[in-house]
Amino acid sequence: MRSPSVFSLLLLAPCLAIAQSSTASSVAAQFTVPASADDGVTLLPNVADPTAPNAQVKCPGYTASKVSTSSIGLAAHLTLAGAACNVYGTDVHDLDLKVEYQTSSRLHVNIRPSHITSQNQSWYLLSTDYVPAGSQGTGSMTTSDLTFSWANTPDTGFGFNVTRNSTGDVLFSTTGTKLVFENQFIELVTHQQENYNLYGLGEVIHGLRLGNNLTRTIYAADVGDPIDSNLYGSHPFYLQTKYFEVGSDNSTTLVMEQLDTTEATSNYTSSTHGVYFRNAHGMEVLLGANNVTWRTLGGSIDLYFFSGPTQRDVTHQYLNVIGMPMLQNYWGFGFHQCRWGYQNWSVTEDVVDNYARFGIPLETIWNDIDYMFQYRDFDNDPVRFNYSDGKAFLQRLHSRGQHYVPIIDSAIYVPDPTNASDAYQPFNDGNATNSFLLNPDGSLYIGEVWPGYTVFPDWFQASAKAWWKNQMVTWHQKLPVDGAWIDMSEVSSFCVGSCGTGNLTLNPVHPPFKLPGEPGNVIYDYPEGFNLINATEAASASSASQAQATPTTTATATSSATSSSSTTSYLRSTPTAGQRNINYPPYVINHVQGNHDLAVHAVSPNATHHNGIQEYDVHNLFGHQILQATYAALLAAIPNKRPFVIGRSTFPGSGTVAGHWGGDNASKFYYMYFSIPQALSFSLFGIPMFGVDTCGFNGNSDEELCNRWMQLSAFFPFYRNHNVLSANSQEAYVWGSVIDATKIAMDVRFQLLPYLYTLFYYAHTQGDTVMRALAWEFPNDPSLANADRQFFLGPSILVTPVLTQGAITVDGVFPGLVEGTDTYYDWYNKSPVAVPSRKNTTIDAPLGHIPVFIRGSSILATQQMAMTTRDARNTSWSIIVATGVDGTASGSLYLDDGESLVPKATKMVSLSSSTSQNGTLSLKVSVSGSYTSLDLALANVTFLGVQSPPSSGAAVTINGRAVANATYNAASKVLSVTGLDNALGGKAWGGNWTLTV
Ligand SMILES: *[C@@H]1O[C@H](CO)[C@@H](O)[C@H](O)[C@H]1NC(C)=O
Repeated sequence: MRSPSVFSLLLLAPCLAIAQSSTASSVAAQFTVPASADDGVTLLPNVADPTAPNAQVKCPGYTASKVSTSSIGLAAHLTLAGAACNVYGTDVHDLDLKVEYQTSSRLHVNIRPSHITSQNQSWYLLSTDYVPAGSQGTGSMTTSDLTFSWANTPDTGFGFNVTRNSTGDVLFSTTGTKLVFENQFIELVTHQQENYNLYGLGEVIHGLRLGNNLTRTIYAADVGDPIDSNLYGSHPFYLQTKYFEVGSDNSTTLVMEQLDTTEATSNYTSSTHGVYFRNAHGMEVLLGANNVTWRTLGGSIDLYFFSGPTQRDVTHQYLNVIGMPMLQNYWGFGFHQCRWGYQNWSVTEDVVDNYARFGIPLETIWNDIDYMFQYRDFDNDPVRFNYSDGKAFLQRLHSRGQHYVPIIDSAIYVPDPTNASDAYQPFNDGNATNSFLLNPDGSLYIGEVWPGYTVFPDWFQASAKAWWKNQMVTWHQKLPVDGAWIDMSEVSSFCVGSCGTGNLTLNPVHPPFKLPGEPGNVIYDYPEGFNLINATEAASASSASQAQATPTTTATATSSATSSSSTTSYLRSTPTAGQRNINYPPYVINHVQGNHDLAVHAVSPNATHHNGIQEYDVHNLFGHQILQATYAALLAAIPNKRPFVIGRSTFPGSGTVAGHWGGDNASKFYYMYFSIPQALSFSLFGIPMFGVDTCGFNGNSDEELCNRWMQLSAFFPFYRNHNVLSANSQEAYVWGSVIDATKIAMDVRFQLLPYLYTLFYYAHTQGDTVMRALAWEFPNDPSLANADRQFFLGPSILVTPVLTQGAITVDGVFPGLVEGTDTYYDWYNKSPVAVPSRKNTTIDAPLGHIPVFIRGSSILATQQMAMTTRDARNTSWSIIVATGVDGTASGSLYLDDGESLVPKATKMVSLSSSTSQNGTLSLKVSVSGSYTSLDLALANVTFLGVQSPPSSGAAVTINGRAVANATYNAASKVLSVTGLDNALGGKAWGGNWTLTV
C-alpha cells in the first residue's frame, strides 16, 4: 500500500477506467440532450455594469405619515416622495410600515405594499405556513434593548435607525439613504463603520469574516463550490461584532482597524448583534467600504434585529425565530463512507469489509446515484442493487450496529408514455395527486436531470408531501434504509425551461454533458502538488499525458468567450409598468450560472405552483421544503426515531429537520481550509450538523491531503468521506499513513462522542453552537475577528489543524493563554501548554498528528473507541478534569437512548471540581433524570494541571470511603486515579458522588 509504485498505479486509475469504460456502448443509442439546452441568454449583472442606473440617484424615496405609536411598536404609511423612478420595476406608491418590539432583544421591521391585505392575494409576502416569523412576545418599547427611530429627511425622505440602548450604539441606519420599493426590486442602503466585522450571509465559500468588498448574491445554485459566488443554500442573516478599546477612564472607543495578534494587547470589549432579512427571493447584499446595501427581487422588507450583545445571545435570539436545530441520532456522529461509483452491492460491501479488515471504525456506508434503476428515485437497479441482496446486506450491517444511507434526488423521472415497459409508478402516483410543478399554461413543467426528462415536486401542495411520504414508506419496506441524503435540491435542472415538453418519447435521455469517466470527458488531473512530492514521476507522467491530450470543450469555450468579450451583447430588460418580467428581471443579480440567467441549470422562474405561486418568488425554498418533507417521510417509515437527513440546499430553519454537507468541493488543500469557515457559518445559521466531502470530491486526492483531512473532519459533527465518479479511490484504508492517522483522530472523536452529543443537546434546547469561532469564545480579543484556521468544538476543545501542503508545523493561537486568563492541555500527553512569549505560536504537527487541546476549566466525560457508536456506548467511562487557572473546572453530560424522537428517559450529569488551599482536589458529580442504560463503570479519573502532589498521600476517597490510590506525574502535572471500576457499584452515573484526593 505504501510503496511508490502502487501509489503511481493508483494515480493512473482514472485513465484506465476511461479506456475500459463498458457503459459507453450501452448508452450509445440514448438521445443526449444538446448542450445548448442549458444555455440561457447572456445578461450583464448589475454590479458589473458601469452604465446601470443608480436607484439612489434616480428614485425619490418615501415620506412617512399617519404615524401611530403604541407601547409595543408603531405603524406608519409611506408614500412615494416624488415621480416614480421605475428603475428596475414598477414603484409601489403606498407602503405600510410596521414596527414591533417583540421581545426585549428582538425588533421586527416590516415594510410592504399597502394594497396587499391578506396572504392569499399576492406573491409579495412569504407566508408563515412556509417560513416561521417572529411573533409579538413580551416585548415593549420600554423594556426593549433596541430602539427604532425614524425621520423624513429633506433630500432622501424616510429613513430609520435601530439603536441598542444598553450601549447607545446605532446598529442599523438607513438615515440619509433612499428606500426603493418596486415590484421586482427593493433596495435598502445602510451605513457602516470602516472595516466592519460581518459574518454569515451564506451560503458562500469564503473566509469567515466577509470583508468590505464583496457582493453576496443569494440564489440557490447547483454549482461545484466556486469561491465567493452564490451556492446551494440561502441564508440572509448576518452577525456583526464591534470591538471597543477601553481607556484608563473606562471610556470606550470603537476599533476601526483590523488588529493582528501582536497589536491586540490593550483592554478591549465587544458587542455583537444580528440582522435577518426574511425573504426567499433572489437577493444581493453588497458589502462596501462604508455601507451595506440589501437588494431583493421581490417580496417585502421583513427585517429582524437581534440585540445580542454576545454572539451566543444573537444565535439564541435568531434561532428562536427560525427554529432550534434537531437533536441528531447518536449514530449520525459515527464515520460515514460514500462515493459515486460503488457500482453494485458487492462493491459496496467490499468497502465495509475493508474498513473492518483494517480495523477502522465505519458507522455508515452510503450509495450515490449508482444504486438507482436508471437514476430514478425510490427504484433500485434490479441487477446491481436488487432488493433481496440489499435487504440481506442491510441486515448484516444492522446486526453489527452499522447503517446505510442512500442518495435521493429532487427530480422525478417521467416515463415515455408510448413505452409501457418504461412505466414508473412514483411518477404516476405523483401526477395523479397534482404533486408536480406546472408551466404557466397548466401543463407539467418538465426539466432534465440524471434520469432524463423529469418533473419536480410542488411542496406547497399537501398532496405532494403525502405522495413523497408514501414513496418513502413503500420503498423502505423493500429496503430498510436508515436515512436520506437529499441532493440536487436548488432545484437543479440541466436545461433551461420545460425542455422535456413534447420530447417524452425520447426518454430516458442522457444529460447534456458527459459524466465523469465517460469517453471524451476531462480526465482528472494529478493530485495537487504531485510535482512536489514525486518530482521524477510527475515529470514523466506530465510529458506522457501531454502527448495524449485532446483539447476539452471547456477550454475551447473559455477561449472563445474571452476573445469575444468586448463585443458581447447583453439582453437588457426594460421595466414595463405594472408587469413583472420574472424570466429576465430588469435587475440582474450576479448569479453564478451560465451567463447569469436565472433559468440556467435550475427550474426556471416561470415554473408555477398549483396555488399560483411562481418559482421566481420562492426559488430559494425548494431545498428547505424537500428536507421538511423527507423528515416527515422518514418519520412515517421509521416511526418514533429521529430522522437522519443530510441536504444540499438549505434555508433558515433547515437545521430543525436536517444537517448539511458542504457540497461538491475538490481535492485541494484550500478546500480543506474553506471547510472551517463554511462550518462556522452554518453554526450561525442553526445547522450544526455540518461536514464536507473529506479528502475532497472533485479530482484526485492523495495520501498527504487525505491524511490531514481525515484528521480534521474527525472534529466536525458530520464526518463523511465522499468521492466523485472515476477519481482515484480515497477511502481511509487506501494509504497506510492515512489508516494510522484516521485511527488516531477517530480515537479522539470516539472519546469525545458523549461530549459532542451533549453539545447537540444544548444546540437543540438552547440554540448553542457546536463548532465555534475563536472570536465567539473570546469576544474581547479583536485580533481573533478573522480567525478561521482554528476552531473550538464546544467550549472545551481547541483544534489547530495543518491546512497547507508539506507543512510539519502549524501556527496558531491559544486564546487567553498569554493573557493569563486561560490554560490549555495537549490532548495526547495531557500536559499543560507552556505560556509562549508571543500569541501566535508554532506547534509541531508532523503528518498524522492533528494538534488538539483541552481548554482549562473543562470537565469531559469520555468513552472509548469501538468499531461503531453502538459498541462505543457500551464502554466504560473516564473523566478528564482540565483544571482552570483558578483551580476549578466544570462540565456536563446529557444521556438518552440516542434515537427516540421523544426519549422516554433522559439523564443530566453535572460535574464540577475544585482545589482547596491545602491542595486537596475534589470532584463532585450530581445526576438527575431516570435514564439508566449508560450507567456503566467509571474506569478512571484524570486531573490535568495539578501543580503539586496531593498532600493526603494520594489516597482517593469516594463519598468518604477509600477506594484507590492516585499516581502523580510531576513532569506532566497529571494526577491519575485508576482502578475505579467497582468503586461506584459499576455505575458511574447511578447517583451523586464526590471524589477527593
Ligand atoms: C441615525 O443615526 C445617525 C448616526 O448616529 C444620526 O446622524 C441620525 O440622525 C439618526 N437618525 C435617526 C432617524 O435617528
